[in-house]
Amino acid sequence: MFPLKLSGLRFVPDGRAVLDGVDLELSGEGISVILGPNGAGKTLLLRLLASLLPADGGTIIWGDSAQPSGRLAMVFQQPMLLRMSVFTNVEFALRPQAMSAAERRLRTAEVLERVGLAHRAKDCARLLSGGERQRLALARSWAMRPRLLLLDEPTASLDPSATEAVERIIREIRTEGAKVLMTTHNLGQATRLADDIIFLADGRVQEHVPAQRFFAHPQSPAARAFLQGELPWRIAFER
Ligand SMILES: Nc1ncnc2c1ncn2[C@@H]1O[C@H](COP(=O)(O)OP(=O)(O)OP(=O)(O)O)[C@@H](O)[C@H]1O
Ligand SMILES: [Mg+2]
Repeated sequence: MFPLKLSGLRFVPDGRAVLDGVDLELSGEGISVILGPNGAGKTLLLRLLASLLPADGGTIIWGDSAQPSGRLAMVFQQPMLLRMSVFTNVEFALRPQAMSAAERRLRTAEVLERVGLAHRAKDCARLLSGGERQRLALARSWAMRPRLLLLDEPTASLDPSATEAVERIIREIRTEGAKVLMTTHNLGQATRLADDIIFLADGRVQEHVPAQRFFAHPQSPAARAFLQGELPWRIAFER
């Protein structure tokens, strides 16, 4: 299903072009981070890839096919959890898969252990804190062994230690062979996690470069302005 190629992707609600010709090519390895100002269309792009919305134009090609051949999972900014136990939230998500009940329970216990929620397995998921909910949502996606994991601001509103826990889980999921495509407004997180940065603004991908290069030498005026505005200090970029 890789390389994943987006060509001329458009999303134009009520005549307003939010995405106005997005071109992007993604390999099947590593962590790609989408950066861009509020309203740039980052969440939208993830939703289009997850087929949660139809595009108004352009194409998405997975390898050489119009449909992804591998599993795809998405974790939203506010994860939707079932009003059931932590354990059942993961186990339930595995039911459509060709697994025996015993295998499902084993896999569920395994991922809960790995995200540090094994001791909360019997608690109602709705009682979890924000950081714990994110870890549970990640565990649920991880359990499905996705080939592509889409994460929308996975640590928004989490404290530094919860953020670190989530970042560690994201790295592990990547190491196990999933391609990760995520958004964040946390530039520290982008520098810690990203292999490459996709900078989205004015309806298009303005830059898609290795992360180090993006932060040291942003090329587009929009990216420079974005970084200047997001950082608590002002930096002068070298050319
Ligand atoms: N289903 C939809 N129908 C119509 N307009 C939409 C839809 N989804 C998103 N939009 C609009 O598209 C624009 C981009 O939204 P999106 O949520 O993708 O931004 P974002 O880059 O994720 O911003 P943020 O950084 O604030 O999360 C917004 O103006 C939003 O109102
Ligand atoms: Mg968003």
